[in-house]
Amino acid sequence: MKKVFVKSYGCQMNVYDAERMADMLTTEGYSETKAVEEADLVILNTCHIREKAAEKVYSELGRVRELKKERQTQGQETKIVVAGCVAQAEGKEILRRAPAVDVVVGPQNYHNLPELLRKARSERVVDTEFPIEDKFDHLPKPSKAMIRNRGVSSFLTIQEGCDKFCTFCVVPYTRGAEVSRSVTKIIDEAVRLADAGVRELTLIGQNVNAYHGEGPDGSIWSLGRLLHRLAEIPGIARLRYTTSHPRDMDDELIAAHRDLPALMPYLHLPVQSGSDRILDEMNRKHTGDEYRRLIERIRKAQPNLALSSDFIVGFPGETDAEFEDTMRLVADVGFASSFSFKYSPRPGTPAAEMEVQVSEAVKAERLARLQNLLETQRQAFNRGTVGQTLDVLLEKPGRHPGQMAGKSPYLQAVQIETDCHQIGDIVTVRMTQAGSNSLFGEVVKPGNQAAA
Ligand code: 5AD
Ligand code: SF4
Repeated sequence: MKKVFVKSYGCQMNVYDAERMADMLTTEGYSETKAVEEADLVILNTCHIREKAAEKVYSELGRVRELKKERQTQGQETKIVVAGCVAQAEGKEILRRAPAVDVVVGPQNYHNLPELLRKARSERVVDTEFPIEDKFDHLPKPSKAMIRNRGVSSFLTIQEGCDKFCTFCVVPYTRGAEVSRSVTKIIDEAVRLADAGVRELTLIGQNVNAYHGEGPDGSIWSLGRLLHRLAEIPGIARLRYTTSHPRDMDDELIAAHRDLPALMPYLHLPVQSGSDRILDEMNRKHTGDEYRRLIERIRKAQPNLALSSDFIVGFPGETDAEFEDTMRLVADVGFASSFSFKYSPRPGTPAAEMEVQVSEAVKAERLARLQNLLETQRQAFNRGTVGQTLDVLLEKPGRHPGQMAGKSPYLQAVQIETDCHQIGDIVTVRMTQAGSNSLFGEVVKPGNQAAA
């Protein structure tokens, strides 16, 4: 049996895509390996969102090329595939710069991999055209064993691409225009996952709450409506979605946070900046106060909401005072977790052409201050849950024998002592202590068992 090694960079969409590629290749006679040295096929599923992502890929390709040469001396062949957003953005350029690469395939084309690999026996190939057909229709269904192997919490792509065109972001160029999968296809996939033992679904999309998929009745469904339908699937106990845009938080979705017990009280809603001028330059189409009011409305619907966000510091032209607006927004809103980045110019995006770029030193200083504040908030949130009784979905064995690890509704990692539970159980846990990265708790009630 041939072996495939897949390395994924970047976001959850890439994790999902990497799993689909691996699923597909098993039907082509490959088994997955975690050891790159023994791989007959190496796939780098790349990310283009920040920094010199492309450069990272080229240096990784340098290493893989050495492996390819070494295996060649032993009479073994290695094919190298570059997939994902760097593949989309760089296309043919990758073949020119990295002679060891056999196939370059974009995020919308990886269902063609078997055919591309056949072609690659005689020539080097690039496939980055946006296709008309839906790649998901061409992907084989993973077996129950493969699904179970990946755990009780699963991603499910419901939407791809983005029409927002924030001026700093490459996504609309690499992932293309917004497309929503149909409700029927999503439900089929969700039922298959649930039948294999999945208890938690995280619906993913670059702009997931802009979801507007065709329903079985031909009408267009919103994310709120879809969540209600998915909650009816036997076995599915928890729903999440990521990543969202503030402009697309409609009333139906906010109401779902109030009405749907399966929808976890956690929301990742990137704000990027607290300065109205910078938000405008970013083309975010909302102000700081609009974001504050939106959060108030969502918290009214779900008072226990754990809020998460993305931030960019040092966007072109950001002044000290404008950065302070971001600090103030963070202080006002309060975040349970967050991701923050220095602005990084992406070729081809409008912000990269803006005249006044902020110096690296200023970016570094602002990022350190922001991260300090966000970390204080994260720890305060975690400490605040100590003493509370929360449901924990058990996902894997814990760090030590007799321990299991799972997630709270707020997506906190929780370690518990137990020897009578199995992966997939949802147990009621009293939180006893907050460590720096996870919480510790004791089981109060066995709770809702996973189907055997
Ligand atoms: N520079 C820095 N951060 C960026 N992000 C997207 N593009 C850039 C960029 N050019 C961040 C945003 C987004 C997250 C996924 O990555 O905060 O929400
Ligand atoms: Fe990029 Fe903005 Fe679209 Fe998010 S909403 S993917 S940041 S363009």
